[in-house]
Amino acid sequence: MTQLQLFRASILHFPEPTTQFNRDVACFRDGALVIEQQRIVAVGQFEDVAAQYPQAQIHDHRGQWIIPGLIDSHLHYPQTEMIARYGKQLLHWLETYTFPTEDKFKDPAYAARLSEIFLQQLLKNGTTTGLVFGTVHSGAVDSLFSAASEKNMALVAGKVCMDRNCPPFLQDCPQSAQQDSARLIDKWHNQGRNLYALTPRFAPTSSEAQMAALGELAQQYPDVFIQTHLSENLEEIEWVKSLYPECGGYLDVYDKYHMVRERSVFGHCIHLTDDEWIRMGEARAAAAFCPTSNLFLGSGLFNFVKPRLHNVDVVMATDVGAGTTFNMLRTYGEGYKISQLQNDPLAPLEGLYMMTQGPASAYGLTGEIGNLNPGTMADFVILSPQFDELTQLRLADESEPADVIFALSMLGDDRAIAQTWVAGVCQYEKNKKE
Ligand code: GUN
Ligand code: ZN
Repeated sequence: MTQLQLFRASILHFPEPTTQFNRDVACFRDGALVIEQQRIVAVGQFEDVAAQYPQAQIHDHRGQWIIPGLIDSHLHYPQTEMIARYGKQLLHWLETYTFPTEDKFKDPAYAARLSEIFLQQLLKNGTTTGLVFGTVHSGAVDSLFSAASEKNMALVAGKVCMDRNCPPFLQDCPQSAQQDSARLIDKWHNQGRNLYALTPRFAPTSSEAQMAALGELAQQYPDVFIQTHLSENLEEIEWVKSLYPECGGYLDVYDKYHMVRERSVFGHCIHLTDDEWIRMGEARAAAAFCPTSNLFLGSGLFNFVKPRLHNVDVVMATDVGAGTTFNMLRTYGEGYKISQLQNDPLAPLEGLYMMTQGPASAYGLTGEIGNLNPGTMADFVILSPQFDELTQLRLADESEPADVIFALSMLGDDRAIAQTWVAGVCQYEKNKKE
């Protein structure tokens, strides 16, 4: 059998980084994507590409859409089982639901089982890369990377570090946080497709000594990711100011310990000051927009004016389990409504950008993920836009690409995901009997 596989479908992606979403999107209505083993070798109009690859095995997906595998830039795998827990705002929600749930991950067998369930949820929703928080237990991060490696997924993940202001059974200490994180970096970072993220939970749960220990690692490993939370909730911000009175604000706490830089991804960023936005832009750090979580916990309305002004990359994220869906398109739908409430509507295709080429470009990974350019890894999603009566009525075959993606962001969920391919292998197929 030939190793070349050609997928015939409508195809949509951003080949280059851009801020002009309508102008710079590439669309092939009758398109072809050719893959060979793990990588994409060609993309274009079906007629042209098929003539170039007459020996390829053809998968006919006419009527469906191919987009790049989606990138969820902030979520918590141990919170899968506690999604949609009724509660008050952030700090109460953390104490009441999150900490007790995360304690279960001290059991490696439990962590292994939940890793599988979590990755299945990602794939079912078309997400092929996640920036994922583990728990304080380093074994729980080993479990997740092991499970992702079996599927050859490009996963970014890290052990949560916290040594104060959380239950004693969930606390590490500065030395163990540093040692465990270093061990995990050596074991997983750049091994296969895995990437490591230093993961202080947020400033209130790390002592200054722990921040200093992680700051040393940040300097020692300049290409690891850094993921944490920033300016999510007003009460949280006041708390940070009282815990770090010598710092010039919340972002400054991370800055003091060398954690504001490229590949730093800060969850939420709802209440940042102008100076903090300026610093984010200078440092090339990214802000993760978590609309369903921000609404669910009543944290506030993210505003796009400042990140645009100061050239800060904004990347989409579910923030499960405070986020209420694993589905990235649906997440963008909620984000769009947040922008509407502020009379500054996001563009129809802006969400797709913020979950594909946008984050890939922010993280220096456009040669691997985030687009369908030849040479990149074959991580892609096949969408079935007309998955029920309503979407059949709403979306005619000749609908514009922006309209299809926008309508799915409002009406869609995992029912719109027909297949999810990772590194040239179909890892999820809707309605497939096991
Ligand atoms: N801040 C610190 N930890 C968390 C968490 O688990 N979820 C959210 N949404 N915010 C946090
Ligand atoms: Zn979070």
